[in-house]
Amino acid sequence: MTRPRLCITRRLSDATLERAARDYDLVVNHDDTPGSAGDLIAASAEFDAIIPCHSEHFSAEAVAQFSDRLRIVANHSVGVDHCDLPALKERGIAVTNTPDVLSDATAELAMLLMLGAARNAVAGDRIVRTGLWDSWSPAFMVGKQVTGARLGIIGMGRVGRAFAAKARGFNMDIHYYNRTELPEDKAQGATYHESVESLLGVADFLSLHCPATPDTTDLMNRNRFAMLPEGAVIVNTARGALVDEEALLAALETGQISAAGLDCFKVEPGGNPDFAKYDSIFMLPHIGSATRQTRDAMGFRALDNLDAFFSGKTPGDLL
Ligand code: DGY
Repeated sequence: MTRPRLCITRRLSDATLERAARDYDLVVNHDDTPGSAGDLIAASAEFDAIIPCHSEHFSAEAVAQFSDRLRIVANHSVGVDHCDLPALKERGIAVTNTPDVLSDATAELAMLLMLGAARNAVAGDRIVRTGLWDSWSPAFMVGKQVTGARLGIIGMGRVGRAFAAKARGFNMDIHYYNRTELPEDKAQGATYHESVESLLGVADFLSLHCPATPDTTDLMNRNRFAMLPEGAVIVNTARGALVDEEALLAALETGQISAAGLDCFKVEPGGNPDFAKYDSIFMLPHIGSATRQTRDAMGFRALDNLDAFFSGKTPGDLL
């Protein structure tokens, strides 16, 4: 039996590539450059399946030009905002993602960002590293204490709940907004808010864990920043689309928020150059899921979905 032809658009983990080469007629983009619309259109004529990352954009315009050969896009990501799902569906192309397996890694990074933003990690690291640390005082680099503080989580899905579990280790008072209230075995005592606005009023720390959709674009805008308690800290490990970046800077300038921890930006790669002069913004380059263990798990999950599809079963993560 001929093996399905599979295109992997980026340099996935070695274990993933080995397994993929064993089971598929595989071509890997070893250059590890993001695939353009033209690359994806060309791939659709040569391959039965593609494993892309969030760096490849399946726009409606590109998908309309796809060949009929391509049958499945098995994303190596939980987020699928880079895929026009209705356009892919209309072309009869199956789409899957990789939920669950990256929740802990992403929640860990959110914790790092929250702690680092709250406790002056950017300025502190810099003055020690550059030899500028020449004095100490009790008034020096005084931050905001996380332990026991009120935490607001927007989006209490898998990553939001993994973050809440870690925050319980800091005795945080956890509040959340979600489209639906969670049953108690999942809420684990967290307080539900029926609206984002209600949640913001108690969020001394705020962490975003919802997907980027047309409804959540600029979820955190000027009005909403103004609803946070003064000096709040915001953390975003979800998607840059959720935050109006000008509004974030304005809120920092007025002290409405005291710090931000960001792994996601409107423009990626690159981020927002206007953020660079703010020590109160602790930034990382979209590496929430970047641990060795999680990269293997994401690759294997994408391959599990492909294996199911090509053996005539419904993939576990079919969207
Ligand atoms: C995801 O899985 O959505 C992460 O952001 C990495 O792509």
